[in-house]
Amino acid sequence: MKNTKGIILAGGAGTRMYPMTQLYSKQLISVYDKPMIYYPLSTLILSGIREVLIISNVETIPYYKKLFKDGSHLGMKIEYAVQDAPKGIAEAFIIGEEFIGDDQVCLILGDNIFYGYLDFLRYAIKENEGATVFGYYVKDPERYGVVEFDESGQAISIEEKPKIPKSKYAVPGIYIFDNTSSARSKKIAPSNRGEVEITDLIKTYLSEENLKVKKIGRGIAWLDSGTPESLLDASAFIAAIEQRQGLKVGCIEESAYQMKFIDKKGMDQIIEEMPNSYYRDYLKGL
Ligand code: TTP
Repeated sequence: MKNTKGIILAGGAGTRMYPMTQLYSKQLISVYDKPMIYYPLSTLILSGIREVLIISNVETIPYYKKLFKDGSHLGMKIEYAVQDAPKGIAEAFIIGEEFIGDDQVCLILGDNIFYGYLDFLRYAIKENEGATVFGYYVKDPERYGVVEFDESGQAISIEEKPKIPKSKYAVPGIYIFDNTSSARSKKIAPSNRGEVEITDLIKTYLSEENLKVKKIGRGIAWLDSGTPESLLDASAFIAAIEQRQGLKVGCIEESAYQMKFIDKKGMDQIIEEMPNSYYRDYLKGL
């Protein structure tokens, strides 16, 4: 099977989260009981991805390093890279070119949370040839990249934040690309808002008929947490599930254990080094 690397893009301007984002990027803010970035990292882990690059601004990288170190305690390899300014999502593939190497890559945005049975993602990663993105039915597609399907379910167009969306299907912030993504991104001219647009990268695959767009069903919750309202919603959602089940969402140590990245001994060591906390009690109780 093809090896797949993971990238978490966790910088951004964070204008909608100012004044918090004066200090560091928003992905350090808590969603209910843990930093936002735990959720996308856990999603990558549960997809079987062990090698991850975290991209953020120079102020925030030291905090991420403090959280995840080199990833070896999780049975992973975690690296870090700086994006000087938020010049677009597709810039992740330019910054991450060396990291990606000969592999394919799964990019997830640091403020995107997925909850539910992640088989759709594991399957898409396994089956990917050129690029695979997803379509998720939403009320307000105009806030996102929007994908239009023909009658046979084939994707025929994709537009970034269209005023008049051609469908209700938004493209969530998780994408799978072959290793031509870096070379392609370098050729993309920045948009009017000065960003190397992910939508333009996806379009290059679409025009070559090398793009799969998979609809994600209603059994999956896709939340973003980039605005004060959506952050509150995401926190309430995670809290409701965790309190009902007594199980955590986005617990990276548990995910690594479940995926057999670490064994019981590795988990015991993590617990031993963790300060007293509810989080530690939870890991102990697993
Ligand atoms: P956006 O929601 O497009 O923007 P933002 O986070 O900068 O916030 P705002 O609109 O309030 O200014 O970003 C989506 C995600 O991608 C988010 O997790 C930040 C990240 N991102 C980067 O890290 N670098 C970038 O260049 C861009 C455009 C986004």
